[in-house]
Amino acid sequence: MKPKKNYTCQSCGAKSPSWLGRCPECREWNSFVEEIENAAPKGRVIIDGGEKARPTKLKDIKGDTQDRVYTGINEFDRVLGGGVVPGSLVLIGGDPGIGKSTIMLQVSLNLSDAGEKILYISGEESKEQVRGRAERIGEGKGELYILCETYMEEIIPHIDQIKPSLIVIDSIQTLYTSQIESSPGSVSQVREVTAQLLQISKKRGIPIFLIGHVTKDGAIAGPKILEHMVDTVLYFEGERGNSYRILRAVKNRFGPVNEIGVFEMDSIGLKEVTNPSALFLSDRPTAVSGSLVTAAMEGTRPILVEIQGLATPSNLGMARRNVIGTDSNRVSLLIAILEKRIGIHLTAMDIFINIVGGMNVSEPSADLAIIAVLVSSAKDIPVDPETIVMGEVGLSGEVRSIPQADLRISEASKLGFKRCILPKKGKGNYKNKGMELTEVSTVSECMEYLFKGIKKGNW
Ligand code: TYD
Ligand code: MG
Repeated sequence: MKPKKNYTCQSCGAKSPSWLGRCPECREWNSFVEEIENAAPKGRVIIDGGEKARPTKLKDIKGDTQDRVYTGINEFDRVLGGGVVPGSLVLIGGDPGIGKSTIMLQVSLNLSDAGEKILYISGEESKEQVRGRAERIGEGKGELYILCETYMEEIIPHIDQIKPSLIVIDSIQTLYTSQIESSPGSVSQVREVTAQLLQISKKRGIPIFLIGHVTKDGAIAGPKILEHMVDTVLYFEGERGNSYRILRAVKNRFGPVNEIGVFEMDSIGLKEVTNPSALFLSDRPTAVSGSLVTAAMEGTRPILVEIQGLATPSNLGMARRNVIGTDSNRVSLLIAILEKRIGIHLTAMDIFINIVGGMNVSEPSADLAIIAVLVSSAKDIPVDPETIVMGEVGLSGEVRSIPQADLRISEASKLGFKRCILPKKGKGNYKNKGMELTEVSTVSECMEYLFKGIKKGNW
């Protein structure tokens, strides 16, 4: 039989019988690659452990989150929603060199020292390289097996023989199966190999971690399809030249999303940062204008971050708007509110906003702080360094309530802040935790409080 030829979009997995310059699904240019698929029938995906599925009463089904395995790395466990779930398939993505192999090796070493049997499959590095890295990180006295193999049909017998309690694949893009003829790393190979691994994890209850590379525009290479197939997607983020690393859950069938774990890369691997707020505020300047602290919720945990703003007269025709770490459209909106409701003129100013430490804050609760930081910079008046500001701002300049204010207040209090500006509470009271709380209902009320020297209407 003549092999069936197909063209597949390498970015979203769309198929076409002929080559196309632009993908009609994801609008990506030049992403179609010829792939020969053999017509072997695809196996039914068994996600249930049993050979034949039977309807079962909901109340008779045992929960699958009871026997979680703790890796001993608390930040990692928290991001997973409280440890590793048996039979889960977890994708961990990130830029090259960010530390994906390092964290997974640390997890493997920890678990093997705790008596678990781990199979670490490396398709990128030799045994010696893995060993070299392990020597820097820990001892590895337990049963940690390293397998340097990329051919699925060879890997499966090893899994049968070793019967590991956890498998790490480094990386999913290097594996291939003979069931598909296209090259390793292509969409159809990645999808097929992942489907096989999904079967293994569900059938045998083995948790499998897949390391995945990220393409230059930030998607996990190959395809979005991968994100749909796995139970949990973690992203490892961080900036070059900065030793902090943030592990973030963007999809999790077993826990909350947007939960983050913070690590610091040093010479002996990744170290947990147990108090990220203190880390993000450690180099904060005091008594300078254009710097302010707000509390953002990351998953279930409040984290204090410093927001810096700079507003300077522009000497170009078009004033610049440059935003790092938050949504630039939102900042434009806030600038417009500031002009209209406070009457402060920023049109002819270059404006820069930066969230310090490589954090990304997309919550509206940072609105009020962004506005205040801009006023502080434009008027060159420092904000009291022991004050934190939080609140969402509406188009008419009203300050709107934010979720989980009490958690944020208590985090700020822990870190030594004395005063907090926040939205007026409709019912009841905030728990003040020894802080002086100032409730405001409009942006101008907040500005009057922060910048007392300036008279109303005299901006
Ligand atoms: P790695 O885990 O290989 O990244 P990835 O698998 O995501 O591509 O991490 C590589 C980087 O981490 C490399 O630049 C060196 C650095 N590193 C340390 O600084 N300290 C260490 O102990 C280790 C193991 C790596
Ligand atoms: Mg690696």
